Amino acid sequence: MKIVLSFVMLLLVGVVQAQHDNRRSFNDNWQFYLGATNENIHQVDFAANDWRKLSVPHDWSIELPFDKESPTGTGGGALRGGLGWYRKVFTMSDADKLKTHFIQFDGVYMNSEVYLNGQLLGKRPNGYIGFRYDATPYLKFGKQVNVLVVKVNNDKQPNSRWYSGSGIYRNVWLLSSGTVRINQWGPYITTPEVTKSKAVIKIETLIDADKNTSAKIKLRHTVYNAKGIKLQQVEKNITLSATETKNEQQVSISNPVLWSDENPYLYKVVTQILDANNKEIDSYTTQTGIRYFNFDADKGFFLNGKATKIRGVCMHHDLGALGTAFNTRAMERQLQILKAMGCNGIRTSHNPPAPELLDLCDKMGFIVMNETFDMWAKKKSDYDYHLYWEQWHKKDLQDHVLRDRNHASVFMWSVGNEIQEQWGQDSSGQVILTELVNIVKELDDRPTVTGNNEINSYNNLLKANLTPLVGYNYNHKSWAAVQDRWGKKPFIVTESTSALQTRGSYDMPSDSIRRWPDAWDKLLLLGNADTTCSAYDNCSTPWGSTHEESLKVFQKYDHVSGMYVWTGFDYIGEPTPYEWPARSSYFGIVDLAGFPKDAYYLYQSQWTNKTVLHLFPHWNWQQGQTVDVWAYYSNADEVELFLNGKSLGIRKKQNDDMHVVWRVTYQPGTLKAISRKNNKIVKETIINTASAASKISLNADRTILKKSADDLSFITVDIRDKQNNIVPLADNLVKFAIEGDGEIVGVDNGSQTSMESFKANHRNAFHGKCLVIVKAKNKAGIIKLTATAKDLSSATINLQVK
Ligand code: GAL
Repeated sequence: MKIVLSFVMLLLVGVVQAQHDNRRSFNDNWQFYLGATNENIHQVDFAANDWRKLSVPHDWSIELPFDKESPTGTGGGALRGGLGWYRKVFTMSDADKLKTHFIQFDGVYMNSEVYLNGQLLGKRPNGYIGFRYDATPYLKFGKQVNVLVVKVNNDKQPNSRWYSGSGIYRNVWLLSSGTVRINQWGPYITTPEVTKSKAVIKIETLIDADKNTSAKIKLRHTVYNAKGIKLQQVEKNITLSATETKNEQQVSISNPVLWSDENPYLYKVVTQILDANNKEIDSYTTQTGIRYFNFDADKGFFLNGKATKIRGVCMHHDLGALGTAFNTRAMERQLQILKAMGCNGIRTSHNPPAPELLDLCDKMGFIVMNETFDMWAKKKSDYDYHLYWEQWHKKDLQDHVLRDRNHASVFMWSVGNEIQEQWGQDSSGQVILTELVNIVKELDDRPTVTGNNEINSYNNLLKANLTPLVGYNYNHKSWAAVQDRWGKKPFIVTESTSALQTRGSYDMPSDSIRRWPDAWDKLLLLGNADTTCSAYDNCSTPWGSTHEESLKVFQKYDHVSGMYVWTGFDYIGEPTPYEWPARSSYFGIVDLAGFPKDAYYLYQSQWTNKTVLHLFPHWNWQQGQTVDVWAYYSNADEVELFLNGKSLGIRKKQNDDMHVVWRVTYQPGTLKAISRKNNKIVKETIINTASAASKISLNADRTILKKSADDLSFITVDIRDKQNNIVPLADNLVKFAIEGDGEIVGVDNGSQTSMESFKANHRNAFHGKCLVIVKAKNKAGIIKLTATAKDLSSATINLQVK
């Protein structure tokens, strides 16, 4: 949802004065201070001259060193929280005097207090929900300055089971309007009737007016197709007499193009308020997808009448080396990588996401399970949201649904993940769930669900039968018989798998699955001494499964309408099964830097039409060692493996297996796999034994960047031998130098145990690779990045900023 706001002042009698104003970014020109300080800090005359200057979105925790003693624990990424202060000094023109002004924060972690000119505007404990305050009564205009101060208290730890980040980590906006405006959440747009030949678009608008305003206005909605061609327009004259006026209008579109995961077609509805002279005084643009769906107890999920499996992943909100500081391009890159794997679903585990994530999901075709809570009144950690539950849960859930209900990509509301109230003798969980389901129902008719990990018949939430969907976390052996327990209800796997992998690390034999025992205190005992987890699909948690185990059950049963794998990407924190020095997760199909692990190609071979032939591991072992060679393949009947030209045999997938294996006595050279269909070669993949590291190569995901403050290039750094093979165990220290108007904003290598800073201009390679993220500035030109390492030939890449 993108707001295009343009306002003119409307006086009481409906006369237009003043000018248009758009939604303005309030991201720049902040000052920041970390630490407790004196109690006058929010006062206008507080001397903050030496505070650091920065722009938000900003995450201060990601800038701190990893710290074994951090009270966030390794679960929180071993990065400290703390108490932080932001301060912004700004002026407003005299012309702004006649308007109403809101300051909107899309997310501040956590416990924020916002002061304007010494006055408290409000507090918001929840670190993921957006909020806004009416600044009008306290603003100063003309030459007088305004001082906005935000206190962010992420000091009490632990308050999260994963890395939360700290600070004003999402966008901030200033919204200025006249005395009459479209309500904060925009019009509510639904499609009550969709057929091949016609779609009815229903638009419910709430018009807000300041007290004592009465005016004659016109409300107009115009629908455009994806090419920007105007299709329909409706308008209505309204006389306002109250502070809130509701209006409902309908528009019909013939032969609608339906939104789907494969063709995410978006219409645009522009809603305008016009004054008596037909001048626009407010406008709001909503992206709308026309689609219908249903969940069937036996046959699963149907999108526009077509059976569609939801091939989803769960995602936390950090963006790797950038921490939680939101960046649209970084988010888009994650989604592109997942889409190319065949993923068509995202679960916003376990909290409201950045609004831009849903804009991207609308555009790119993801089926979103939009989740609000990880706990209710009963805690998971001492200082988590349970402390605020009583006072805030209703408002937080309402705001979440109101903010996100126009998104075509949102298909269900998850009101809780692995809630403690699942268990126990008391019925408090049922009381709460009843309330939450009703809150959602009043605002939207999409189904609700909870992610349950306790799936026995005593589960307080499931047995109360309050949500239309049955949601299971894990328990893949029970998916087939879910109806025996809960009756004929649609079923979705809200979370699955929790397999563990370190990219490029392999434990043999690969067919002995390392499953950590079902006792927390023993987890560490069975880990590898070097805190790695094998990237053959042979390592998993006891509550989860290997990738293949859950995938097989998911594919087999139609009634399993979807599955959200834990997780798409590694995230900071929760390094199960290890603790320090591990500090980020092993669960991802893709590592923290965005490099796919081998399991990525398993999903790609199952979930896309691409011809996949992924051969692994690398080919640098000890002479004579027995090495397991795996292949994931698709669009072929068989794969033949050759070592130095000699065939090691043909393999075909057996039964429902999704990979093939050869046990090979290692000798250096060339490993080659050929896949064939109907005796014709369809694909060939080669892995050579790498010799000594000799050079660096750089490969940017994009070499042309937009001239804007937040466009990024993600540059992959490979360590190669003379023949250009990636050296699989290389860990060379690579140093980066930048020329031109660009900035290095993050470095990473995907290792879960690296204690190097994400904010340095150097990084050790990990298994032959590392990553550097370059940000463009507001200036056109060339950015030149050079990477050097001792004893290696250096490499340079030019990025063009336009
Ligand atoms: C689930 C939980 C997730 C994550 C995962 C790790 O139980 O919902 O947040 O902790 O386990 O396996």
